[in-house]
Amino acid sequence: MRYLSRRQLLAAAAAMPAAAQSGSLTVPGKAPLIVHNDFPEDLESLPEYLASWITPTDKFFVRQHLPRPKIDAGAFRVNVGGMVSTPASLSVDDLRKLPQLTLAATLECAGNGRGNFQPRIPGLQWNKGAIGNAQWRGPKLKDVLARAGASAQAKYVDFDGADVPVGKVPEFIRSIPMRKAMLETTILALEMNGQPLPDLHGFPLRLIVPGWDGASWVKWVNSIQVQAQSNPGFYMATAYKYPKVAPAPGGAVKPEDMDVLEGMAVKSFFATPSPETKVKMGSTVRFAGIGWGGENRIARVDVSTDGGATWRPAALGKEDMAFAWRTFSFEWKAARPGYTVVCCRASDAAGRTQPIDAAWNPSGYLNNSVERLGIVVEG
Ligand code: MTE
Repeated sequence: MRYLSRRQLLAAAAAMPAAAQSGSLTVPGKAPLIVHNDFPEDLESLPEYLASWITPTDKFFVRQHLPRPKIDAGAFRVNVGGMVSTPASLSVDDLRKLPQLTLAATLECAGNGRGNFQPRIPGLQWNKGAIGNAQWRGPKLKDVLARAGASAQAKYVDFDGADVPVGKVPEFIRSIPMRKAMLETTILALEMNGQPLPDLHGFPLRLIVPGWDGASWVKWVNSIQVQAQSNPGFYMATAYKYPKVAPAPGGAVKPEDMDVLEGMAVKSFFATPSPETKVKMGSTVRFAGIGWGGENRIARVDVSTDGGATWRPAALGKEDMAFAWRTFSFEWKAARPGYTVVCCRASDAAGRTQPIDAAWNPSGYLNNSVERLGIVVEG
């Protein structure tokens, strides 16, 4: 395992000629990213990569529990079985022949921000970059299920990828309930940002579950099983669970007092400027960031330049839709010298507003605490 802090990564990248930068610090096809693990790859985006509405594929974070499989697209088949009348085995060409939908959607790891919980929680210490927004394209899951004649009695659909268990790490199988599986917007993507999915993001086929945590977005999907119940394996029965009632920070929660994570929290953060940026007194500082509300569109983002005492609305980007994040910007005249804490806080169309402090939970999921960005105004 190799770990580079953001500071080390940027210092090393800056010291290298541009041509040498890609490949030496990163995996092929990726811009420099924060490397939490290099095998299997767990790579975090830098905040400044998240300023644009669409995250370029080379700057998109990566998370996987098991080594990624190498798949021969020609031989690839996804098998659809379980509670179906006509089990199907579909090639990439078969999937391409179904009607295709293009959909912008934000993918966020449930553990994004885990590194900022107190007390500390074991696991990948993501800061804020286990998130990205992309255009996904492929057939609707409901069309694939119809093709196999999925039973009306079924309650869940299980998805398994071509990655295989290693040592004590079990098979990665996730289930989603039928009510989410049958939506027009739940798709099996063949493309990301207009190109075939890269290996790292699930080539040739991955599930897109808009507004739900990244763990549901199974990569390299080669098995779809229609079921009466949710999968009993580790990644549904034990992992990705959230307390029904918030414990005191550091407290334990019994397994029966947890629910499976589904939709994501409302959240925002600044992409630029970076923390501790120095500005001259009298200058105008432009803050840019993103807000998203899981399955809900973003209604507003407010910014405070006095540590949360007072708030003013930010200007919102025109991308006003469910599932995809919304950009925002805010201009501020740095009138007084000194260290200034700037905060942003999103509200979504369902009436949820980001809390000052997210609820601590034993696995460190859904950290949507209001960000505190320090800016140094020099007199
Ligand atoms: N799919 C498979 N087959 N194996 C995995 O380990 N990890 C999941 C999900 N899909 C995973 C997977 C998790 S935890 C996340 S957050 C997302 O993939 C990350 O997607 P990305 O690597 O494309 O950013």
